[in-house]
Amino acid sequence: MAHRILIVEDEEKLQRALELHLRSLGFEVVKAGSAEGALAEIDRADLILSDLRLPGMDGLELLSRIRLTNSVSPVILMTAFGTVESAVEAMRQGANDFLTKPFSLDHLTSVVERALEVRALRDENRKLREELGHRYDLENIIGRSAPMQEVFQLVMRVAAAKSTVLIAGESGVGKDLIARAIHYHSPRRERPFVKINCTSIPENLMESELFGYDKGAFTGASTSKPGKFEEANSGTVFLDEIGDVTPSVQVKLLRILQERQFERLGSNKTVSIDVRVIAATNQDLRAALEQGTFREDLFYRLNVVPINMPPLRKRKEDIPFLAEYFLQKYSREAGRPMESITDEALRVLETHHWPGNVRELENVIERAVVLTRGKRLDAADIRIDDLQRRPAASEDQFLPPGMTLDEYERYLIQEALRRAEGNKSQAARLLGLTRNAFRYRLSQTGVNGDDSE
Ligand SMILES: Nc1ncnc2c1ncn2[C@@H]1O[C@H](COP(=O)(O)OP(=O)(O)O)[C@@H](O)[C@H]1O
Ligand SMILES: [Mg+2]
Repeated sequence: MAHRILIVEDEEKLQRALELHLRSLGFEVVKAGSAEGALAEIDRADLILSDLRLPGMDGLELLSRIRLTNSVSPVILMTAFGTVESAVEAMRQGANDFLTKPFSLDHLTSVVERALEVRALRDENRKLREELGHRYDLENIIGRSAPMQEVFQLVMRVAAAKSTVLIAGESGVGKDLIARAIHYHSPRRERPFVKINCTSIPENLMESELFGYDKGAFTGASTSKPGKFEEANSGTVFLDEIGDVTPSVQVKLLRILQERQFERLGSNKTVSIDVRVIAATNQDLRAALEQGTFREDLFYRLNVVPINMPPLRKRKEDIPFLAEYFLQKYSREAGRPMESITDEALRVLETHHWPGNVRELENVIERAVVLTRGKRLDAADIRIDDLQRRPAASEDQFLPPGMTLDEYERYLIQEALRRAEGNKSQAARLLGLTRNAFRYRLSQTGVNGDDSE
């Protein structure tokens, strides 16, 4: 069934051109010359393409009216050249995309198709979430917890599309793995996956790394060299630590995301490419937006399909499975397969706060495997660095990331009990408390100490 597009545009020539083009692509088209006239058609439109400036009610007002209805149809706003602020404002108020006039019909096509694709994806994802009991598995990625199952579903859905994905999460949560999983489940799997670590490339080399250069572009450029984007053509570019890119590179990335075009350094020839972009960040990009260090328009272009990776401490159910997986992996590698992890050992793992997330857990198990003689991994085999255990000393983070004071208190109590091997008097001493004060806190925080005194 053809998608029905509602065009809201007061300028007749443009309205007609848009209509002809969209019809030629097989869409059904309805037109309105004003926002007021468009209101009656909203219910039946699969996508709304509206001018920002209209006689009477403007495009933003129309957008907010649409958002008040139950409509989930994407809204694309057309803005005049040079009004980036209003485009950004439109995105902030829930527009799905924007087009800056004048735009090419090809660009219009890709924006419309992308918006419909994302909408289909969201619909399908909602349906999937409602299906109960089905478990998603991705090769070599462990995650039985509900939030990881949601991530896996999203990966499977988004893989088939070309939509830009922004993966957010603390360091060591598995962002890299997820980016690769998307690529290797996508129709592009046979094509290159090119990772660009935005932190590790010095600022002055960034542009030539990304976009390449032509012979003579700068002293020492004796030959031409394609950049990472060209290398990735018809495949996927993975921009890791995207929060660290400089403003000038941000501008160029914005253009690639909008038009899939760029120029090599020292060249005026425009290169067009077909790449899928996946970005990752361990920073809070919304905070960076507020501080003005990250462009809002770029953020919205990246954040088409957001995937938020929960930290390990928020999905402790995964710990036993991850520990078992790493135990098998490293003991096999060491040439002496081990059988299991004891419950006591698991308890130690489950009480740790894991500031380094899965990466830290992996290191801890690897080390334990190396140091152990037996067939089973016991609590005594597990060494967690005291350095990692201590909360960060910096001013803005004097509690471990993501922890509240109550959680931290619980953690300290459990930790003291663990070190005292369950002996409450000793645990109390470790915390500088009397035994009664300690007992009181135990009951307040709901930590179960065992009964040994
Ligand atoms: N769910 C998981 N299952 C198995 N291994 C994982 C999982 N998440 C992370 N890892 C492992 O932990 C390490 C860190 O993961 P990585 O994807 O590099 O994290 P990030 O990019 O978020 O810092 C890698 O060795 C990765 O293989
Ligand atoms: Mg990474």
